[in-house]
Amino acid sequence: MSLYYSASDRFTFNVAYTPLPESTAATWYRHVEPETGRRYNLADMTAPGGASPEKRNPHYEFLGVKRYWRYSEERMRHLLEQGLVVQTKPGNVPQLKRYLDESKGVPLQDVWTDIPMVRGRGPERRGYPTQKPVALLERIINLSSNAGDVVLDPFCGCGTVFEATRRTRRRRIGIDISDFAVKVIRERMAEEGEDIEVFDWPTEMDGVRRMVDSDRTRRRFEDWALARLGLPTNRRGGDGGVDGKVTFTSRGKQLHVIVSVKSAKPRPSEVRDLLGTMHRERAVMGLLFTLEQPTALAWQEIHAAGRYRAPDGTEYPKIVVHQVEDLLVHGRLPDLPSKHGIQEPLWPIPASTRSVRLRTPSARLSRRAAQDDHATAPPPVAAVDVLERVRSAHARRLADRDAPAATEPIEGSTKARRLRNTTAG
Ligand SMILES: C[S@@+](CC[C@H](N)C(=O)[O-])C[C@H]1O[C@@H](n2cnc3c(N)ncnc32)[C@H](O)[C@@H]1O
Repeated sequence: MSLYYSASDRFTFNVAYTPLPESTAATWYRHVEPETGRRYNLADMTAPGGASPEKRNPHYEFLGVKRYWRYSEERMRHLLEQGLVVQTKPGNVPQLKRYLDESKGVPLQDVWTDIPMVRGRGPERRGYPTQKPVALLERIINLSSNAGDVVLDPFCGCGTVFEATRRTRRRRIGIDISDFAVKVIRERMAEEGEDIEVFDWPTEMDGVRRMVDSDRTRRRFEDWALARLGLPTNRRGGDGGVDGKVTFTSRGKQLHVIVSVKSAKPRPSEVRDLLGTMHRERAVMGLLFTLEQPTALAWQEIHAAGRYRAPDGTEYPKIVVHQVEDLLVHGRLPDLPSKHGIQEPLWPIPASTRSVRLRTPSARLSRRAAQDDHATAPPPVAAVDVLERVRSAHARRLADRDAPAATEPIEGSTKARRLRNTTAG
Protein backbone atom coordinates (compact mmCIF):
# COMPACT_ATOMS: atom_id res chain seq x y z
CA MET A 1 0.00 0.00 0.00
CA SER A 2 1.50 3.36 -0.93
CA LEU A 3 0.77 6.54 1.01
CA TYR A 4 1.63 10.01 -0.17
CA TYR A 5 2.69 12.85 2.10
CA SER A 6 3.47 16.44 1.26
CA ALA A 7 4.87 19.05 3.67
CA SER A 8 3.30 21.94 1.79
CA ASP A 9 0.79 22.56 -0.98
CA ARG A 10 3.62 22.91 -3.50
CA PHE A 11 4.35 19.39 -4.64
CA THR A 12 4.65 17.20 -7.70
CA PHE A 13 2.29 14.35 -8.29
CA ASN A 14 2.55 12.74 -11.71
CA VAL A 15 0.07 10.17 -12.93
CA ALA A 16 1.72 6.87 -13.70
CA TYR A 17 0.37 3.97 -15.71
CA THR A 18 0.78 0.24 -15.53
CA PRO A 19 0.35 -2.07 -18.52
CA LEU A 20 -3.16 -3.40 -19.15
CA PRO A 21 -3.67 -6.90 -17.80
CA GLU A 22 -3.83 -9.42 -20.67
CA SER A 23 -7.48 -10.29 -19.94
CA THR A 24 -8.48 -6.61 -20.13
CA ALA A 25 -6.45 -6.06 -23.28
CA ALA A 26 -8.14 -9.05 -24.91
CA THR A 27 -11.66 -7.75 -24.23
CA TRP A 28 -10.96 -4.05 -24.85
CA TYR A 29 -8.90 -4.45 -28.01
CA ARG A 30 -10.80 -7.10 -29.96
CA HIS A 31 -9.93 -6.08 -33.54
CA VAL A 32 -6.76 -7.04 -35.35
CA GLU A 33 -5.44 -5.07 -38.32
CA PRO A 34 -4.81 -7.74 -41.03
CA GLU A 35 -1.88 -5.88 -42.66
CA THR A 36 0.09 -5.30 -39.45
CA GLY A 37 -1.35 -7.69 -36.86
CA ARG A 38 -1.79 -4.72 -34.47
CA ARG A 39 -4.69 -4.95 -32.04
CA TYR A 40 -7.08 -2.01 -31.78
CA ASN A 41 -10.46 -0.88 -30.57
CA LEU A 42 -12.96 1.64 -31.92
CA ALA A 43 -13.73 4.76 -29.95
CA ASP A 44 -16.61 7.20 -30.18
CA MET A 45 -15.84 10.43 -32.06
CA THR A 46 -19.13 12.21 -31.47
CA ALA A 47 -19.03 15.13 -29.09
CA PRO A 48 -19.80 14.66 -25.42
CA GLY A 49 -22.64 17.06 -24.63
CA GLY A 50 -23.92 16.90 -28.26
CA ALA A 51 -25.82 20.03 -29.24
CA SER A 52 -25.46 21.73 -25.86
CA PRO A 53 -24.63 25.39 -26.75
CA GLU A 54 -22.16 25.92 -23.92
CA LYS A 55 -20.05 23.00 -25.19
CA ARG A 56 -19.65 24.67 -28.60
CA ASN A 57 -19.15 21.34 -30.31
CA PRO A 58 -18.64 21.57 -34.07
CA HIS A 59 -21.52 20.33 -36.26
CA TYR A 60 -20.83 19.15 -39.81
CA GLU A 61 -21.22 16.23 -42.20
CA PHE A 62 -18.43 13.69 -42.26
CA LEU A 63 -18.40 10.56 -44.49
CA GLY A 64 -22.10 11.18 -45.16
CA VAL A 65 -23.01 11.40 -41.46
CA LYS A 66 -24.19 14.68 -39.83
CA ARG A 67 -23.36 14.92 -36.13
CA TYR A 68 -21.93 17.10 -33.39
CA TRP A 69 -18.31 15.93 -33.40
CA ARG A 70 -15.57 15.79 -30.82
CA TYR A 71 -12.95 17.19 -33.22
CA SER A 72 -12.80 20.03 -35.75
CA GLU A 73 -13.48 19.16 -39.38
CA GLU A 74 -9.82 19.73 -40.23
CA ARG A 75 -8.64 17.36 -37.50
CA MET A 76 -11.15 14.73 -38.64
CA ARG A 77 -9.78 14.92 -42.19
CA HIS A 78 -6.28 14.55 -40.86
CA LEU A 79 -7.25 11.45 -38.83
CA LEU A 80 -8.89 10.00 -41.94
CA GLU A 81 -5.71 10.56 -43.98
CA GLN A 82 -3.73 8.76 -41.30
CA GLY A 83 -6.02 5.75 -41.63
CA LEU A 84 -7.34 6.17 -38.11
CA VAL A 85 -11.04 6.51 -39.00
CA VAL A 86 -13.18 3.41 -39.51
CA GLN A 87 -16.67 3.40 -41.03
CA THR A 88 -17.91 -0.16 -40.85
CA LYS A 89 -20.41 0.43 -43.69
CA PRO A 90 -21.76 3.46 -45.53
CA GLY A 91 -24.08 5.48 -43.32
CA ASN A 92 -22.62 4.12 -40.08
CA VAL A 93 -21.12 6.61 -37.64
CA PRO A 94 -17.32 6.76 -38.19
CA GLN A 95 -15.16 5.71 -35.23
CA LEU A 96 -11.57 6.29 -34.14
CA LYS A 97 -9.03 3.48 -34.27
CA ARG A 98 -6.95 3.18 -31.05
CA TYR A 99 -4.06 0.72 -30.99
CA LEU A 100 -3.26 -1.43 -27.98
CA ASP A 101 0.46 -0.80 -28.43
CA GLU A 102 -0.15 2.94 -28.11
CA SER A 103 -2.23 2.61 -24.96
CA LYS A 104 -0.68 4.15 -21.83
CA GLY A 105 -2.15 1.34 -19.75
CA VAL A 106 -4.21 1.85 -16.63
CA PRO A 107 -3.57 4.61 -14.10
CA LEU A 108 -1.59 3.33 -11.14
CA GLN A 109 -3.62 2.56 -8.04
CA ASP A 110 -2.50 2.66 -4.40
CA VAL A 111 -1.82 -1.07 -4.02
CA TRP A 112 1.24 -2.15 -5.98
CA THR A 113 1.73 -5.84 -6.52
CA ASP A 114 3.60 -5.81 -9.81
CA ILE A 115 7.14 -5.16 -8.50
CA PRO A 116 8.90 -8.27 -7.14
CA MET A 117 11.22 -8.16 -4.11
CA VAL A 118 14.98 -8.33 -4.60
CA ARG A 119 15.61 -12.03 -4.11
CA GLY A 120 18.34 -14.64 -4.05
CA ARG A 121 21.32 -14.07 -6.27
CA GLY A 122 19.63 -11.99 -8.96
CA PRO A 123 21.73 -9.43 -10.85
CA GLU A 124 20.27 -6.58 -8.81
CA ARG A 125 21.27 -8.12 -5.49
CA ARG A 126 23.99 -6.24 -3.58
CA GLY A 127 24.12 -8.27 -0.40
CA TYR A 128 22.54 -5.41 1.55
CA PRO A 129 19.92 -6.87 3.86
CA THR A 130 17.27 -4.17 3.39
CA GLN A 131 17.76 -3.55 -0.31
CA LYS A 132 14.69 -2.33 -2.22
CA PRO A 133 14.00 -3.01 -5.90
CA VAL A 134 15.16 -0.25 -8.26
CA ALA A 135 11.80 -0.43 -10.06
CA LEU A 136 10.03 0.54 -6.83
CA LEU A 137 12.22 3.58 -6.21
CA GLU A 138 12.04 4.51 -9.88
CA ARG A 139 8.28 4.54 -9.69
CA ILE A 140 8.18 6.63 -6.50
CA ILE A 141 10.64 9.11 -8.02
CA ASN A 142 8.71 9.35 -11.29
CA LEU A 143 5.49 9.99 -9.41
CA SER A 144 6.79 12.67 -7.10
CA SER A 145 9.44 14.58 -9.08
CA ASN A 146 10.43 15.65 -12.55
CA ALA A 147 13.62 15.15 -14.55
CA GLY A 148 16.38 17.40 -13.20
CA ASP A 149 14.87 17.63 -9.69
CA VAL A 150 16.95 16.82 -6.61
CA VAL A 151 16.02 13.70 -4.65
CA LEU A 152 17.19 13.42 -1.03
CA ASP A 153 17.40 9.96 0.51
CA PRO A 154 18.48 10.34 4.14
CA PHE A 155 18.70 6.55 4.64
CA CYS A 156 20.20 5.57 1.32
CA GLY A 157 21.47 2.06 2.25
CA CYS A 158 23.04 0.37 -0.73
CA GLY A 159 22.12 3.22 -3.04
CA THR A 160 19.00 2.01 -4.79
CA VAL A 161 17.92 5.64 -5.02
CA PHE A 162 21.23 6.47 -6.68
CA GLU A 163 20.57 3.96 -9.41
CA ALA A 164 16.93 4.97 -9.76
CA THR A 165 17.78 8.68 -10.01
CA ARG A 166 20.37 7.90 -12.61
CA ARG A 167 17.82 6.08 -14.73
CA THR A 168 15.20 8.79 -14.28
CA ARG A 169 17.58 11.71 -14.82
CA ARG A 170 17.29 13.25 -11.38
CA ARG A 171 20.06 14.62 -9.18
CA ARG A 172 20.50 13.08 -5.74
CA ILE A 173 21.92 13.52 -2.29
CA GLY A 174 22.18 10.45 -0.08
CA ILE A 175 22.92 10.18 3.62
CA ASP A 176 23.78 7.02 5.51
CA ILE A 177 25.29 6.35 8.88
CA SER A 178 26.98 3.16 7.71
CA ASP A 179 30.37 3.22 6.03
CA PHE A 180 29.58 -0.16 4.53
CA ALA A 181 26.68 1.53 2.75
CA VAL A 182 29.09 4.14 1.37
CA LYS A 183 31.35 1.42 0.11
CA VAL A 184 28.52 -0.52 -1.55
CA ILE A 185 27.14 2.62 -3.21
CA ARG A 186 30.55 3.59 -4.54
CA GLU A 187 31.00 0.15 -6.11
CA ARG A 188 27.48 0.16 -7.46
CA MET A 189 27.83 3.54 -9.11
CA ALA A 190 31.34 2.77 -10.37
CA GLU A 191 29.81 -0.14 -12.30
CA GLU A 192 27.53 2.38 -13.95
CA GLY A 193 30.54 4.49 -14.83
CA GLU A 194 29.66 7.12 -12.29
CA ASP A 195 31.88 8.88 -9.86
CA ILE A 196 30.20 10.03 -6.65
CA GLU A 197 31.46 12.51 -4.14
CA VAL A 198 31.59 11.40 -0.54
CA PHE A 199 31.72 13.81 2.37
CA ASP A 200 32.90 12.94 5.84
CA TRP A 201 34.61 9.78 4.60
CA PRO A 202 38.25 10.22 5.62
CA THR A 203 40.68 9.97 2.79
CA GLU A 204 43.88 10.81 4.62
CA MET A 205 45.38 10.09 8.03
CA ASP A 206 44.42 13.44 9.58
CA GLY A 207 40.82 12.81 8.63
CA VAL A 208 40.90 9.36 10.22
CA ARG A 209 42.29 10.79 13.44
CA ARG A 210 39.64 13.51 13.49
CA MET A 211 36.98 10.84 13.05
CA VAL A 212 38.40 8.87 15.99
CA ASP A 213 38.59 12.00 18.17
CA SER A 214 35.01 12.98 17.40
CA ASP A 215 33.43 9.63 18.27
CA ARG A 216 34.03 8.24 21.73
CA THR A 217 32.45 4.91 20.91
CA ARG A 218 34.99 4.41 18.06
CA ARG A 219 32.26 2.66 16.13
CA ARG A 220 32.53 4.95 13.16
CA PHE A 221 36.22 4.17 12.99
CA GLU A 222 35.58 0.44 13.28
CA ASP A 223 32.96 0.52 10.52
CA TRP A 224 35.15 2.69 8.36
CA ALA A 225 38.21 0.45 8.86
CA LEU A 226 36.28 -2.71 8.01
CA ALA A 227 34.66 -1.08 5.01
CA ARG A 228 38.14 -0.01 3.88
CA LEU A 229 39.17 -3.65 3.96
CA GLY A 230 36.04 -4.55 2.07
CA LEU A 231 34.56 -6.42 5.02
CA PRO A 232 31.06 -6.05 6.45
CA THR A 233 30.56 -4.87 10.01
CA ASN A 234 30.01 -7.70 12.43
CA ARG A 235 27.80 -6.24 15.11
CA ARG A 236 24.78 -8.48 15.36
CA GLY A 237 24.07 -9.28 18.99
CA GLY A 238 27.53 -8.38 20.31
CA ASP A 239 30.64 -9.23 18.41
CA GLY A 240 32.32 -11.46 21.06
CA GLY A 241 35.66 -9.87 20.21
CA VAL A 242 35.25 -10.44 16.48
CA ASP A 243 35.13 -7.18 14.55
CA GLY A 244 35.37 -8.89 11.21
CA LYS A 245 36.25 -12.21 9.68
CA VAL A 246 38.05 -13.24 6.53
CA THR A 247 37.01 -16.72 5.48
CA PHE A 248 38.59 -18.70 2.68
CA THR A 249 38.78 -22.28 1.52
CA SER A 250 42.05 -24.12 1.14
CA ARG A 251 42.19 -27.76 0.00
CA GLY A 252 38.51 -28.20 0.80
CA LYS A 253 38.82 -26.75 4.32
CA GLN A 254 37.23 -23.50 5.45
CA LEU A 255 39.77 -21.34 7.23
CA HIS A 256 39.15 -18.17 9.20
CA VAL A 257 41.14 -15.08 10.08
CA ILE A 258 39.72 -13.01 12.93
CA VAL A 259 39.96 -9.27 12.37
CA SER A 260 40.36 -6.96 15.35
CA VAL A 261 40.25 -3.19 14.75
CA LYS A 262 42.01 -0.83 17.18
CA SER A 263 42.14 2.95 17.19
CA ALA A 264 44.61 3.23 20.11
CA LYS A 265 47.97 1.48 20.56
CA PRO A 266 47.14 -2.21 21.01
CA ARG A 267 48.16 -3.38 24.51
CA PRO A 268 49.37 -6.85 25.57
CA SER A 269 45.97 -7.70 27.12
CA GLU A 270 44.27 -6.96 23.81
CA VAL A 271 46.66 -9.24 21.96
CA ARG A 272 45.89 -11.98 24.51
CA ASP A 273 42.15 -11.36 24.03
CA LEU A 274 42.58 -11.73 20.28
CA LEU A 275 44.44 -15.00 20.77
CA GLY A 276 41.61 -16.23 23.02
CA THR A 277 39.02 -15.32 20.40
CA MET A 278 41.05 -17.02 17.66
CA HIS A 279 41.24 -20.15 19.80
CA ARG A 280 37.51 -20.09 20.51
CA GLU A 281 36.60 -19.47 16.88
CA ARG A 282 39.16 -22.02 15.65
CA ALA A 283 40.71 -19.33 13.48
CA VAL A 284 44.07 -20.00 11.88
CA MET A 285 45.25 -16.42 12.16
CA GLY A 286 44.41 -13.01 13.57
CA LEU A 287 44.62 -9.64 11.85
CA LEU A 288 45.19 -6.62 14.06
CA PHE A 289 44.14 -3.66 11.95
CA THR A 290 45.29 -0.68 13.93
CA LEU A 291 45.62 3.07 13.71
CA GLU A 292 48.64 3.17 16.04
CA GLN A 293 51.64 0.87 16.45
CA PRO A 294 51.21 -1.75 19.22
CA THR A 295 53.13 -1.03 22.43
CA ALA A 296 56.53 -2.70 22.86
CA LEU A 297 55.04 -5.22 25.31
CA ALA A 298 52.20 -5.98 22.90
CA TRP A 299 54.78 -6.69 20.19
CA GLN A 300 56.36 -9.25 22.53
CA GLU A 301 52.98 -11.02 22.81
CA ILE A 302 52.52 -10.85 19.04
CA HIS A 303 55.93 -12.44 18.39
CA ALA A 304 55.31 -15.02 21.10
CA ALA A 305 52.09 -16.09 19.32
CA GLY A 306 54.29 -17.80 16.74
CA ARG A 307 53.62 -18.53 13.10
CA TYR A 308 51.03 -20.21 10.93
CA ARG A 309 52.03 -22.54 8.11
CA ALA A 310 49.49 -22.33 5.27
CA PRO A 311 48.57 -25.49 3.31
CA ASP A 312 50.90 -24.37 0.48
CA GLY A 313 53.79 -24.30 2.96
CA THR A 314 54.07 -20.50 3.20
CA GLU A 315 54.55 -19.20 6.74
CA TYR A 316 52.79 -16.17 8.18
CA PRO A 317 52.87 -14.55 11.61
CA LYS A 318 50.01 -16.01 13.63
CA ILE A 319 48.96 -12.42 14.29
CA VAL A 320 49.43 -10.04 11.38
CA VAL A 321 49.67 -6.38 12.33
CA HIS A 322 48.53 -4.01 9.63
CA GLN A 323 48.36 -0.29 10.14
CA VAL A 324 45.69 1.94 8.67
CA GLU A 325 48.51 3.98 7.21
CA ASP A 326 49.77 0.94 5.26
CA LEU A 327 46.45 0.72 3.51
CA LEU A 328 45.49 4.37 3.25
CA VAL A 329 48.81 5.95 2.37
CA HIS A 330 50.72 3.09 0.74
CA GLY A 331 47.76 1.15 -0.67
CA ARG A 332 49.16 -2.09 0.87
CA LEU A 333 46.86 -4.94 1.81
CA PRO A 334 47.55 -7.17 4.82
CA ASP A 335 49.62 -10.23 4.00
CA LEU A 336 47.26 -13.17 4.47
CA PRO A 337 47.18 -16.65 2.89
CA SER A 338 44.16 -15.56 0.87
CA LYS A 339 42.84 -12.16 0.01
CA HIS A 340 39.43 -13.72 -0.42
CA GLY A 341 36.87 -11.35 1.06
CA ILE A 342 39.40 -8.58 1.33
CA GLN A 343 39.49 -6.35 -1.62
CA GLU A 344 41.86 -3.88 -3.11
CA PRO A 345 41.16 -0.41 -1.79
CA LEU A 346 38.76 1.02 -4.31
CA TRP A 347 40.10 4.50 -4.12
CA PRO A 348 43.64 4.72 -2.80
CA ILE A 349 44.43 8.34 -2.19
CA PRO A 350 47.91 9.75 -1.61
CA ALA A 351 48.51 11.26 1.83
CA SER A 352 49.11 14.68 0.37
CA THR A 353 45.67 14.83 -1.23
CA ARG A 354 43.25 16.95 0.69
CA SER A 355 40.51 16.88 -1.89
CA VAL A 356 37.25 15.25 -0.92
CA ARG A 357 36.59 14.29 -4.52
CA LEU A 358 37.04 10.56 -4.85
CA ARG A 359 37.53 9.05 -8.25
CA THR A 360 36.94 5.58 -9.56
CA PRO A 361 40.18 4.06 -10.79
CA SER A 362 38.99 3.03 -14.21
CA ALA A 363 39.41 5.40 -17.13
CA ARG A 364 37.04 3.20 -19.11
CA LEU A 365 34.29 3.83 -16.60
CA SER A 366 34.92 7.58 -16.67
CA ARG A 367 34.74 7.54 -20.47
CA ARG A 368 31.43 5.73 -20.28
CA ALA A 369 30.15 8.34 -17.86
CA ALA A 370 31.21 11.12 -20.21
CA GLN A 371 29.32 9.50 -23.08
CA ASP A 372 26.19 9.26 -21.02
CA ASP A 373 24.05 12.28 -21.71
CA HIS A 374 22.70 12.13 -18.17
CA ALA A 375 26.18 12.51 -16.78
CA THR A 376 26.91 15.49 -19.00
CA ALA A 377 23.53 17.19 -18.63
CA PRO A 378 23.83 20.50 -16.80
CA PRO A 379 22.88 20.00 -13.17
CA PRO A 380 19.84 21.91 -11.99
CA VAL A 381 20.53 25.05 -10.00
CA ALA A 382 19.18 23.67 -6.72
CA ALA A 383 21.49 20.64 -6.79
CA VAL A 384 24.52 22.72 -7.63
CA ASP A 385 23.67 25.16 -4.92
CA VAL A 386 23.23 22.54 -2.22
CA LEU A 387 26.26 20.54 -3.29
CA GLU A 388 28.44 23.63 -3.62
CA ARG A 389 27.57 24.68 -0.10
CA VAL A 390 28.21 21.21 1.30
CA ARG A 391 31.46 21.04 -0.62
CA SER A 392 32.77 24.44 0.43
CA ALA A 393 31.73 23.90 4.05
CA HIS A 394 33.54 20.59 4.01
CA ALA A 395 36.65 21.98 2.34
CA ARG A 396 36.85 24.74 4.96
CA ARG A 397 36.47 22.19 7.71
CA LEU A 398 39.38 20.23 6.33
CA ALA A 399 41.44 23.40 6.07
CA ASP A 400 40.65 24.57 9.58
CA ARG A 401 41.16 21.68 11.95
CA ASP A 402 40.97 23.76 15.10
CA ALA A 403 37.47 25.04 14.50
CA PRO A 404 35.66 22.20 12.79
CA ALA A 405 32.14 23.39 13.60
CA ALA A 406 32.69 27.06 12.94
CA THR A 407 32.43 26.79 9.18
CA GLU A 408 29.40 27.74 7.19
CA PRO A 409 26.79 25.19 8.11
CA ILE A 410 24.03 23.92 5.90
CA GLU A 411 20.98 25.97 6.66
CA GLY A 412 18.38 24.16 8.67
CA SER A 413 20.74 21.51 10.03
CA THR A 414 21.03 20.86 13.75
CA LYS A 415 24.56 22.13 13.59
CA ALA A 416 23.36 25.35 11.95
CA ARG A 417 20.78 25.89 14.66
CA ARG A 418 23.28 25.10 17.37
CA LEU A 419 25.76 27.51 15.84
CA ARG A 420 23.15 30.26 15.52
CA ASN A 421 22.08 29.74 19.12
CA THR A 422 25.65 29.84 20.35
CA THR A 423 26.56 32.95 18.42
CA ALA A 424 23.29 34.66 19.38
CA GLY A 425 23.94 33.87 23.05
C1 LIG B 1 16.17 0.26 5.20
S1 LIG B 1 17.83 0.71 4.89
C2 LIG B 1 17.69 1.58 3.38
C3 LIG B 1 17.68 0.65 2.22
C4 LIG B 1 17.65 1.39 0.89
N1 LIG B 1 16.34 1.89 0.60
C5 LIG B 1 18.16 0.46 -0.21
O1 LIG B 1 17.39 0.03 -1.07
O2 LIG B 1 19.33 0.16 -0.19
C6 LIG B 1 18.05 1.96 6.08
C7 LIG B 1 19.41 2.61 6.07
O3 LIG B 1 19.37 3.66 7.02
C8 LIG B 1 20.64 3.81 7.59
N2 LIG B 1 20.49 4.54 8.84
C9 LIG B 1 19.97 4.12 10.02
N3 LIG B 1 20.00 5.10 10.93
C10 LIG B 1 20.53 6.18 10.33
C11 LIG B 1 20.80 7.51 10.74
N4 LIG B 1 20.53 7.92 11.98
N5 LIG B 1 21.32 8.37 9.87
C12 LIG B 1 21.60 7.98 8.60
N6 LIG B 1 21.37 6.72 8.15
C13 LIG B 1 20.83 5.83 8.99
C14 LIG B 1 21.14 2.38 7.77
O4 LIG B 1 22.55 2.33 7.80
C15 LIG B 1 20.56 1.71 6.51
O5 LIG B 1 21.52 1.66 5.49
